[in-house]
Amino acid sequence: KKVVLAYSGGLDTSIILKWLQTEYGCEVVTFTADLGQGEELEPARKKAEMMGATSIHIEDLREEFTRDFVFPMFRANALYEGLYLLGTSIARPLISKRLVEIAAAEGADAVAHGATGKGNDQVRFELAAYALNPDIKVIAPWREWDLTSRTKLIDFAEKNQIPIAKDKRGEAPFSVDANLLHTSSEGKVLENPADEAPDYVYQRTVHPEDAPDTPEYIEIGFEKGDAVSIDGTAMSPATLLSRLNDLGGKHGIGRLDLVEGRFVGMKSRGIYETPGGTILLEAHRGIESITLDRGAAHLKDELMPRYAELIYNGFWFSPEREMLQAAIDHSQAHVTGTVRLKLYKGLARTVGRWSDHSLYSEAHVTFEDDAGAYDQKDAAGFIQLNALRLKLIASRNRRLKG
Ligand code: ARG
Ligand code: SIN
Repeated sequence: KKVVLAYSGGLDTSIILKWLQTEYGCEVVTFTADLGQGEELEPARKKAEMMGATSIHIEDLREEFTRDFVFPMFRANALYEGLYLLGTSIARPLISKRLVEIAAAEGADAVAHGATGKGNDQVRFELAAYALNPDIKVIAPWREWDLTSRTKLIDFAEKNQIPIAKDKRGEAPFSVDANLLHTSSEGKVLENPADEAPDYVYQRTVHPEDAPDTPEYIEIGFEKGDAVSIDGTAMSPATLLSRLNDLGGKHGIGRLDLVEGRFVGMKSRGIYETPGGTILLEAHRGIESITLDRGAAHLKDELMPRYAELIYNGFWFSPEREMLQAAIDHSQAHVTGTVRLKLYKGLARTVGRWSDHSLYSEAHVTFEDDAGAYDQKDAAGFIQLNALRLKLIASRNRRLKG
């Protein structure tokens, strides 16, 4: 028996590696992805080697993650429950895709992950895996083992010579998931949603109060709905997002303290930092504001919560997500141009936008003489016909009141 494990190199997935070998009796292949979490991956290789992994896969997926997952999602302006930019949700399908591909290449019949039985991530990993290989087996140790407390986990680690970082010996302070798009922190000191999160929870943004006192202006160039340049310099998707992360982090942009509804039914409280993504959403809405027709824009906004929920719930590889994506992508044909943003004390605001594809017509909208572009008399009939229903209702109400 052989299993491919999504391995971070951290304590929990190291315990899982050992547990799969000793309790499950399988050979373990590890897969560690660089999704821009900002951690060295070589230590993960050393640890996996030391624990006798059968084979070790380490891959830099930052470009694929940004180009094929993050950017398509940003074309939709996706927000879950109005606020969450889906930084963890969008990373899981890619990890599963590679797990399943590596399993095929290695002749493994199962994949394993370190998500708990209480959360969304187990659902996302597994729905994606089954969508890509209906015969794959999934092992989720957190749902099976009896290592139900921190003490039992530490005991197991010590018995099996798994190195434990000093700060992990006691209670883990909180659970973190990070990638190029965001850092999310949940649990422990954050569990009571009435209490403000302590400052040390934030890892990639400065406190807005401590951000520079002078605003910074940037220009983001878009082509067909995707950001392609900053201040005129063309960049790859991952390079661009990481540059926006630096800018956003420096100006304290993209912090969020959220209580959200998990797919499994419970509510959870999380602290999110999405510096680059927050700038990108604002900029994308800015360029859409002049290049998207109102009908297309409003329909897109109606579909958006549905699309966001599909991603949150783990249905990236589903026919309905693909249908919505096709419509969203189609809408982006003219979403090309430049947005100027002002970054200041926790906020990114659009202050200018221009495009060769613009639908904005100063000739029509001007308060000055429009030289015949628009005949104001046309509006009278337009209003009369739109008012007809409202007038009929008002007359009826007056009649019935007597
Ligand atoms: N609640 C977020 C989501 O479901 C993040 C989950 C993982 N985060 C973590 N800190 N373990 O997408
Ligand atoms: C977990 O439970 O493993 C993390 C949180 C989540 O998946 O929602």
